[in-house]
Amino acid sequence: MSPLSFPQADATRRATDDERAAILAAPGFGQHFADFMAHARWNAEGGWGGDELVPYGPLSLDPATAVFHYAQEIFEGLKAFRHEDGSVWTFRPEKNAERMQASARRLALPELPTEDFLASLRTVTAADEPWVPAVDPSAEHSLYLRPFMFASESFLGVRASHTVDYYVIASPAGDYFPRGVEPLVVWISDTYARAGAGGTGAAKCGGNYASSLLGKKEAAEHGADEVLFLDSETHTRIDELSGMNVFAITADGRIVTPELSGSILPGVTRDSILQLAADRGLAPAEERLDMSSVLDQVTSGDIVEMFACGTAAVITPIGEFRSKDGSWPVGGGGSGEHTLALRKELTDIQYGRAEDRHGWLTRL
Ligand code: COI
Repeated sequence: MSPLSFPQADATRRATDDERAAILAAPGFGQHFADFMAHARWNAEGGWGGDELVPYGPLSLDPATAVFHYAQEIFEGLKAFRHEDGSVWTFRPEKNAERMQASARRLALPELPTEDFLASLRTVTAADEPWVPAVDPSAEHSLYLRPFMFASESFLGVRASHTVDYYVIASPAGDYFPRGVEPLVVWISDTYARAGAGGTGAAKCGGNYASSLLGKKEAAEHGADEVLFLDSETHTRIDELSGMNVFAITADGRIVTPELSGSILPGVTRDSILQLAADRGLAPAEERLDMSSVLDQVTSGDIVEMFACGTAAVITPIGEFRSKDGSWPVGGGGSGEHTLALRKELTDIQYGRAEDRHGWLTRL
């Protein structure tokens, strides 16, 4: 099968320069969309094909389309960054390609080859290049790329779809959290779990996010920004937040994140932090994190910093945990020194302000 090249279909109405400038001045997160999207279709007989670059716009789908009924769907998230010389780069895209392939296997969807995944990112970013925000170290804006794939065959039986559609859309992005990089208040959910053993927790599929929403709602009702889920079996071990991984830093220089138990998303940012932390002389560890022990260590001062991380969240400090049993400020409730230093180092690499010593950047 020949590689996909996503040739451009019809001409489209693009946003005017003024419309785009107004959006790029304050993009928020996930509220505005760039002019073009890439599309390809897979069918059980012929494999991948039908690749095209099309105007961003609504999809028309039969009400019996399988994804509406059985949620056979996966997605990815990565960012395009403008560098000082005007060039546009992305961060470890092959990791996202591999994770999408792993998610596809778990959801009985077809795997998209890495070279086709990268071609789709390049095509969309080239077409939507005016939407990649200009360099502004004080704002750290980017173009968020959202590849996704869903079961597009119309039928009501329960089986893997014989037709699958893949798209990449792009959205200018500022801070994910409305309060920017201010420390988060995190609600510990003892009612709901995000994923269970043998389930889809390690796949980036919509169902995991759907199952987080009630917990997130409960968090908001208690004045918290995010929800922390514990393992579904014992309700004692930390899994992750609604859509991001979590780290703790101890007073004696360890940096710990929950091990990949099968119900945790293997985050690209998570993986990068483990490396950057080791480079800084911290001792990284992936292990089971017992919630009550973490709260004891937060109280005793043995844990001095905690943070959330992900492509959208980057690295955002956690300032307080709350549950129905009380509240626990972390490290005095402020933003920890290592947390902010790791965030700066990661974003400096992404925006080309620091040496890419691990070869993580790919030019789009
Ligand atoms: C990302 O970080 O890219 C995600 O997909 C998580 C979501 C909370 C936006």
